[in-house]
Amino acid sequence: MLVLTGTSGRLGGGVLQNILQKGLMPPSELVISAFNVDGVPAAAKDAGIIIQHGDYTKPETLLHAFRGADALFLVTYPSVGEERFEHHKAAIDAAKASGIRHVIYTSLSFGGITGEESIAGVMQAHVRSVKYLKASGLIYTIVREASYADIWNIFCGFVQLDASHDDVDFVVPGDGASTWADRDELAEATASIVANWKQYENKSILLSGPRATSISEIATLLQTHTGRQVNVKIVSPEEAIIYHMRNPALPQDGGKFLRNWATWFKAMSLGEASVVDPALEQLLGRKPKGIQEMAEELFVVQQPTGLDTKEFGDYAK
Ligand SMILES: NC(=O)c1ccc[n+]([C@@H]2O[C@H](COP(=O)([O-])OP(=O)(O)OC[C@H]3O[C@@H](n4cnc5c(N)ncnc54)[C@H](OP(=O)(O)O)[C@@H]3O)[C@@H](O)[C@H]2O)c1
Repeated sequence: MLVLTGTSGRLGGGVLQNILQKGLMPPSELVISAFNVDGVPAAAKDAGIIIQHGDYTKPETLLHAFRGADALFLVTYPSVGEERFEHHKAAIDAAKASGIRHVIYTSLSFGGITGEESIAGVMQAHVRSVKYLKASGLIYTIVREASYADIWNIFCGFVQLDASHDDVDFVVPGDGASTWADRDELAEATASIVANWKQYENKSILLSGPRATSISEIATLLQTHTGRQVNVKIVSPEEAIIYHMRNPALPQDGGKFLRNWATWFKAMSLGEASVVDPALEQLLGRKPKGIQEMAEELFVVQQPTGLDTKEFGDYAK
C-alpha cells in the first residue's frame, strides 16, 4: 500500500492522474492523505481510492492516514522557508511510527550535483529534510524536481504581462541559470518513479529540464515572443529587495520573503540549478520541454490580475 499526498496540487495531482490513466498501479494499492479533502480529484473517488485527512501541521492526522501502508509519496509543504522542515519532519516521524518503510520525497534541483548543500533559502528545508530522512533508518527515494518553467516570472522580478506595449523590466540581483522544466512533465516522470518505488531504494534522482537557461536568455525569449523591449537590470540584493517591497502583490512581511528570494540568484550564479541530467528524458521516453519549447504558452499576455501568490506559500498569508 502506497500513500499519496498533495493530490489537489499540480505535482501530486499529476502523479495521481498518470498512475490512474496509465494503470501504473491498481487503485486498491493506493491511499490518499489529503490536507484539503475536498480538493482530491474526482477520479480518485471514482476509482474507489481511500481518502484520509492528513495535515503536516497536525501529526496525529498523519498517524491515522498512514496506518497500514508500506510507502509514502511525500509532496513537500508549499512554502519557500526553512520552517517547513518541521512539517516534513512530522511526516517522516509519522511514517516511521505508522510502520511505513519507504519514503519518496520531492526535493528541488538547487544544490548542484548532490543537492546536499545550498546557499539558496528555498533549498534549506530540503537539505535538512533529506538529511533527516536518510538518518531515520527508512528507505528513501529523493526526487529533485527542476524549477517549474511556469513560475519564470517570479525569478524574473515578479513580471506580469498585461496587454500594454510598455517595456518590461527584470529587476533582479543576478543573472544565473536554471534547468526549467514543465510541471506536468515532472509529474509524469515522478509518477513513474512513485509507481516503481521498489526500484528506487536509497536513490536520488535529478529531474532537470533539457538545458540551463539564464535570466537574460529568458529576457531575449520574451522579447522575441511579445515584441516588447525587455530590460534586465541587475542590482545588488539589497536594492532588489527594496525595489520589490513596493510591489503590493508581494507578501507584506517586512521583506522576509524577498530576502529568501534574493538568495536564489547567488545560488544560480554559482551553477547550483544548472546541472542537466538525462533522467527526465529517460523516464518520459521523449525530449522534455524547456523554457524555449514552452515560450508560446508561458509568455502569454494576460489581463493584469496580480501575481499568483499561491507560490509564496506561508509568506502569502
Ligand atoms: N520545483 C519548483 O519550482 C517548485 C515551485 C513551487 C513549489 N514547489 C514545491 O513543490 C510542491 C508541489 O508542487 P505543486 O505544483 O503540486 O504545488 P501546489 O499545486 O501548490 O500544491 C501544494 C500541495 O500542498 C499540500 N498542502 C498544503 N498544505 C498542507 C498541509 N498542511 N499538510 C499537507 N499537505 C499540504 C496540498 O495538498 P492536498 O492535496 O493534500 O490538499 C497541495 O496539493 C509544493 O508543495 C512546493 O513544496 C516547487
